[in-house]
Amino acid sequence: MDVGVLGTGHYLPTKILTNKDMEKIVDTNDEWIRTRTGIEERRIAEDDVDTSDMAFHAAEEALKEANVKAEDIDLILVATVTPDTPFPSVSCMLQDRLGATKAAAMDIGAACSGFMYGIVTAKQFIETKAYKKVLVIGTEKLSKITNWEDRGTCVLLGDGAGAAVIGEVSEGRGILSFELGANGAGGKELYQNEDDQLVMNGREVYKFAVRQMPESTVNVVEKIGHSKEDVDYLIPHQANIRIMNAARERLGISEDKMATTIKKYGNNSSASIPMALSESVKSGKIKDDDLVVLVGFGGGLTWGAVSLRW
Ligand code: ACO
Repeated sequence: MDVGVLGTGHYLPTKILTNKDMEKIVDTNDEWIRTRTGIEERRIAEDDVDTSDMAFHAAEEALKEANVKAEDIDLILVATVTPDTPFPSVSCMLQDRLGATKAAAMDIGAACSGFMYGIVTAKQFIETKAYKKVLVIGTEKLSKITNWEDRGTCVLLGDGAGAAVIGEVSEGRGILSFELGANGAGGKELYQNEDDQLVMNGREVYKFAVRQMPESTVNVVEKIGHSKEDVDYLIPHQANIRIMNAARERLGISEDKMATTIKKYGNNSSASIPMALSESVKSGKIKDDDLVVLVGFGGGLTWGAVSLRW
């Protein structure tokens, strides 16, 4: 049985914080942020919009695109490091709000790689025939855990949500291979401190990401007997345009074949890949029969990649 994406959705808060706005908050400047990160602006959720609210809107769009009713969802998996509350989970909140009456629900903690862990988990449940349809969401209100006095991190982060309905697809389509990984020894490079704020050793995470993203991409395509030259479209975690371009260049992929949302949205942790996927589907950048690779990395340290035939 082949398992793939039936529909995608995303949600972005309307409030925009530009680099010029950041200059009023910390000692930084537009030029530094653009050249070092590729970010021009980011979205920030209003006070009364929490992580589950953004997830809800993204999920509704994905269900609509997939033409699947909420009551037909068997499992809801929400990847987030910024849940409304540790419990009840965001996935349980959604189960109620969507009316997904028969769905089981759990949140996944794999930081920025969370959506990758989510879709791979969904694939297992569907392949074993335990479930037919799984809703996977990456959603983050990173502004809640941002240290607005740390210029090394606050300029990078933004809020948003992305979702995908995973289910059975026609033969030869869908998720063809995957790789998931973790290195707990690297946990100290990227974590949430006792004040609930995100702390990052930017240089160490940078080195890890530049190595891991191309390596995982090559691994997933080689697992299906292809090489990096066969990749039609790459959706990397949107952490820094320099990391993304370094990976792209190592893989020999041209600029038009890589999803880039970081310019407008910054780094949205677990939401960045599903948001970029949803935008790429809607803008027609992913074409029928394309070999697509999604690849992410993040706190843990964790990483994950999938190859899929669209
Ligand atoms: N504005 C102006 N100057 C700054 C800023 C800023 N916002 N931030 C740092 N600087 C300064 C530093 O203080 C330093 O000054 P110094 O040389 O006088 O000490 C100088 O700029 C260079 O700092 P570096 O940290 O070496 O800058 P670098 O080129 O490494 O860029 C960055 C920093 C953008 C954080 C980069 O390391 C990076 O992108 N790392 C990876 C981040 C990442 O991928 N995170 C992913 C996980 S987080 C998540 O996904 C939620």
